Amino acid sequence: MLHDELSRFGVSIPSDLLLQFDKQIKRQGYGNRSEAIRDLIRRSLLQPQQYPATLCVAGTIAMVYNHHASELPLSLTGLQHAYHHDIISTMHVHLNHDQCLEILVVRGEVRRLRELGDRIRALKGVLYAELSVTHLEPGNGDERRGHPGSLHDEERKHT
Ligand code: NI
Repeated sequence: MLHDELSRFGVSIPSDLLLQFDKQIKRQGYGNRSEAIRDLIRRSLLQPQQYPATLCVAGTIAMVYNHHASELPLSLTGLQHAYHHDIISTMHVHLNHDQCLEILVVRGEVRRLRELGDRIRALKGVLYAELSVTHLEPGNGDERRGHPGSLHDEERKHT
């Protein structure tokens, strides 16, 4: 089959960068560079921006922010209410005197989740915000647009 054929290619890379890479993949247990690079490529293909805009996905938006930033807690709450159909659950951890870690569990069309992640990241005082998602298999009502939970979803088999 075509996708089982292996292709070889050459890469030019600064020596010190390659040295760091080799150290890292050794720590991670890779036997050789090829498998490590294949994994990196596979992972990059799973990035949210690679998915078709209307695909239904589930995942998380993790963020760190400074809750002293003026208006930020209010803006964040307002934003989350505007996307309440896409947010299933949230967890908030007070990291220290200033910083909060918040994790949103999200489910819906990837374009809406990307938009939410972008809007959070753009808020002043947000130090970091990262969306990570995985594709939901179609069927079982998952293709309904932008609506996460309903009572009927409880009847679905959890796999
Ligand atoms: Ni906090």
